[in-house]
Amino acid sequence: MERRDGDALVLFGATGDLCYRKIYPALFQLVRRNVLNVPVIGVARQGWKIEQLTARVRESLKAFVPDADEAAVARLVALLRYVDGDYNNRATFEALRKSLGNAQRPLHYLAIPPSMFPVVIEHLSATSAGPGARVVVEKPFGRDLASARRLNQTLHKHFPESDIFRIDHYLGKEAVQNLLYFRFANSFLEPVWNRNFIASVQITMAESLGVAGRGKFYDETGAIRDVIQNHLLQIVALLTMEPPVNAEGESLRDEKVKLLKAVRVATPAELVRGQFKGYREEPGVAKDSTVETYAALVLHIDSWRWSGVPVYLRAGKRLPVTATEVVVEFRPPPANVFGDQAPEQPNHARFRVGPDVAIALGANTKKPGPVMTGRDVELYVAQQQGDDMDAYEVLISAALVGDTSHFAREDEVEAAWRIVDPLLNLSTPSIEYLPGSWGPKQADDLIKGACVWHNPGAKPQDWTRSCGRGQPEHGAGRG
Ligand code: BG6
Repeated sequence: MERRDGDALVLFGATGDLCYRKIYPALFQLVRRNVLNVPVIGVARQGWKIEQLTARVRESLKAFVPDADEAAVARLVALLRYVDGDYNNRATFEALRKSLGNAQRPLHYLAIPPSMFPVVIEHLSATSAGPGARVVVEKPFGRDLASARRLNQTLHKHFPESDIFRIDHYLGKEAVQNLLYFRFANSFLEPVWNRNFIASVQITMAESLGVAGRGKFYDETGAIRDVIQNHLLQIVALLTMEPPVNAEGESLRDEKVKLLKAVRVATPAELVRGQFKGYREEPGVAKDSTVETYAALVLHIDSWRWSGVPVYLRAGKRLPVTATEVVVEFRPPPANVFGDQAPEQPNHARFRVGPDVAIALGANTKKPGPVMTGRDVELYVAQQQGDDMDAYEVLISAALVGDTSHFAREDEVEAAWRIVDPLLNLSTPSIEYLPGSWGPKQADDLIKGACVWHNPGAKPQDWTRSCGRGQPEHGAGRG
């Protein structure tokens, strides 16, 4: 891969929440690892000076990197510059150009509301974005297929696709990258990774928190736009795509797009939308809001490999735990050798994507004793505590060197919107569910053809399987 490293990082929205919560802590870690050593120019319209930006960065590190050492903090602070001004005003961008000095390949990070993208991009192109510039665009990338297309057109007027980095922070997660690695670095999985052996796939993204002060944003978004169109469809694509020719950005994205194009457009008949009780009292939320804080749906992949294998997705706020988990359920053996003593649980593969990382294979073994009866066990093939590098560290360092493999391409984002487009803007009310529950009961009817939803536990060891009789024994063969 050709590497042309970025020589400046420009943060639009430098005084905002995303920079505070995610980007400054990530930049700090990159400085600490000696990966970041270019000017970091904050841009915002707050009437601030560099002193206030520095104070904000220090506050962010105090809150999110409690063990930040002063030597590294000082190194980050020394890289900071600040440009104050209105994004509608060309003078702001001329000041930015000045602040960039001789930088030839600045990375412009748009941590701002999408409605501001066009004006910022136009001004950048006229001033600070020479042929070497790159741009990072935060999610949500549009509100639906039509607006995503418009946004892509705007970006392409000024930036070639290879210089556009659309963020989906799930692609920066260690566990999500491991899905790809585990699938294609091993030979035992691929022969059975198809409709002949697999009965169903389900993915649960459960969050115990509510909208956490983001009521206004969330009420314009809802669960489908917020996490299903992006994070969960990315997981679906990595789990089910064909082997890429190599691990480079274009090869990966070619395969993901091909898969997403094979997913049938979702229908409201196979969707359950829920809203947790109390959501409408959240600050910023409309008193009569019908926006979903929970969604469960079924997808169908019309491909040679996956035809007839349902893919169940669900995501929700105020659920009992915070955990994202994939369960791939295999078909039972073709003949029942053990009669009444046959195992009740089919085999499964379980990928825990967050907050910790675990890969487990569910199998049946004989229970010691005179009777030919079994028990189901899980073989842990990987288990680590959390991400080594935060997703934003991975993504920012990749964008700085022009590596597109962890970012969504234009056609990929559009293919994902195409799938969920008919599920957006539904006027039917969302079904109320109690905070701390697993969402509306109606979601159980969606999955009953396959089995039941597997509810991830707070810890992998608490994971329960409600499909068969017992619970699997954990830890056998733990790696
Ligand atoms: C964000 C969503 O993209 O992902 C949030 O906007 C959600 O609503 C978050 O809480 C979850 O990310 P993570 O990394 O905590 O699983």
